[in-house]
Amino acid sequence: MKSCVDGEEGMCGSINEKRKSAIAAIKSSTRGVGIVFVALFLLVVLIPSRWIDRVSFVLTNNEESSSHGGHAHPKKSPRIPISFTCPNATSVERLSCTRRAPPLSTSPSPSPSPTPSSSSSEPSPSTAATTAAAACPGYFRYIHEDLRPWRGRGGITRAAVEEARSLAHFRLVVLGGRAFVEHYSGAFQTRDVFTLWGVLQLLARYPGRVPDLDLMFNCDDPPVVRFDSYRAGEGPSAPPLPPLFRYCKEPATADIVFPDWSFWGWPEVNIKPWEPLLVDLKEGNERVKWKDREPYAFWKGNPWVAGTRQDLLKCNVSNGREWNARLFTQNWESEIRNGFKGSNLADQCLYRYKIYIEGRAWSVSEKYILACNSPTLLVTSMYQDFFTRGLMPGHHYWPIRPDHKCPSIKFAVDWGNKHQKEAQAIGKAGSGFIQEEVKMDYVYDYMLHLLTEYAKLLRYKPTVPEKATELCLESMACAAEGLVKTFMMDSRAKWVHDSEPCTLPPSFDPKELKEISKRKDEAIKQVEMWERKA
Ligand SMILES: *[C@@H]1O[C@H](CO)[C@@H](O)[C@H](O)[C@H]1NC(C)=O
Ligand SMILES: *[C@@H]1O[C@H](CO)[C@@H](O)[C@H](O)[C@H]1NC(C)=O
Repeated sequence: MKSCVDGEEGMCGSINEKRKSAIAAIKSSTRGVGIVFVALFLLVVLIPSRWIDRVSFVLTNNEESSSHGGHAHPKKSPRIPISFTCPNATSVERLSCTRRAPPLSTSPSPSPSPTPSSSSSEPSPSTAATTAAAACPGYFRYIHEDLRPWRGRGGITRAAVEEARSLAHFRLVVLGGRAFVEHYSGAFQTRDVFTLWGVLQLLARYPGRVPDLDLMFNCDDPPVVRFDSYRAGEGPSAPPLPPLFRYCKEPATADIVFPDWSFWGWPEVNIKPWEPLLVDLKEGNERVKWKDREPYAFWKGNPWVAGTRQDLLKCNVSNGREWNARLFTQNWESEIRNGFKGSNLADQCLYRYKIYIEGRAWSVSEKYILACNSPTLLVTSMYQDFFTRGLMPGHHYWPIRPDHKCPSIKFAVDWGNKHQKEAQAIGKAGSGFIQEEVKMDYVYDYMLHLLTEYAKLLRYKPTVPEKATELCLESMACAAEGLVKTFMMDSRAKWVHDSEPCTLPPSFDPKELKEISKRKDEAIKQVEMWERKA
């Protein structure tokens, strides 16, 4: 039961051999490319291209008209497809990133602005006139908060980044729009692979806009960079506060949050990339009207990653009391054996209420749970990912007390069944938030703005680490197999983004932040008061 050690909903058991080798192939394809580099270059140059049959991922006209059909853009120039070509010939050539990239020495270093055509991050009048970028969702404002500790320290030094090295699974360097990665240790399952795949999609989608940068990334669940441990960092001889990217943080830590791998897919547990899954979830939503759903609170997951989840199981109806909860254990091993028939997320919109509870830290299940149109009963958690900071208790979800889960769930369900209009409004607000404000377009814009703001703080010019290898669409996708490949293909960015990213809203002033946190606390206290009165 080795792989139980990580992954809040991680599979406790062995990955089957085929998948293992596919993953190994990708992971190894991201290393050691330098050795074959020269031979490869010669191979590509010397062999006439007709000798090598290629499999090309170029879009057909069909795909273009169907996916673009809904909008008429008569004046716009045609969209530019993102294509790449996998040779089916040798295992050596498919590792190559050379055919795509211009030589580093001649590539100009893009300005650290997301809009290279203008000198600031404001859209210039001409681009604004044609594309009029709308403001990003409010949760983007936390980008400024996540970076504030380094702004207060005069920026990010090389020493600070090096300080994060011992905490990182990999280092990502972007130079001239090209991605270079140095792996320090193996991440759980394919978290690193799909995170890096996401970065490559961003680079392809916004060519020339991702500035040069150098960052450290950790793929585990719990945040680790405690402010407490670096308080002394304000003195001259103490270690600097390390900027470390990961998927979640808590108020006491300085971890910088980044969208998690599951937006591009989680092959080990058959969770599709977010874009197609969101379509499935919308369809699943329409199958059973809210009123006709089971009038209970549903949860299905892996209880073995957190004490609080095992605690939750005590609220199940099978334990002799009716807490209005219907709870099920997700057994990934048996799901894998029977082809994931019992774990289709789109089939899980059959209850009027859905419970969200943290795992080892935040859980990727949150977006799936919120998307069901059934109010989410959210067990209050201190973990925050990049979008959850935009959620307001009482509006987007119903808060559940972590230390009184069973009575809290019972009360919420009774309340909702009595106040069906209000309950449905909460369900709709949560799902609307997920479907509109956390769609893939915004996930990419969040990444772009975060990386741009991060890069502005770098006090040195990034360079390619000696042991880093270049990553490109070909080197990752062509070597992939099975579900890994399927999910890569299903989550690839198909078009160069033809308009401005959304406009990054300004940072909060301290008063605003206090106000928001007060509103959240009050909403939670209000529910607690109702519960006590009941
Ligand atoms: C490449 O693919 C084509 C078409 O599927 C096939 O005919 C050819 O034999 C393949 N070449 C190699 C070297 O595998
Ligand atoms: C919870 O109760 C239901 C109904 O009795 C049962 O089917 C289910 O297996 C129980 N869940 C757990 C985790 O025991």
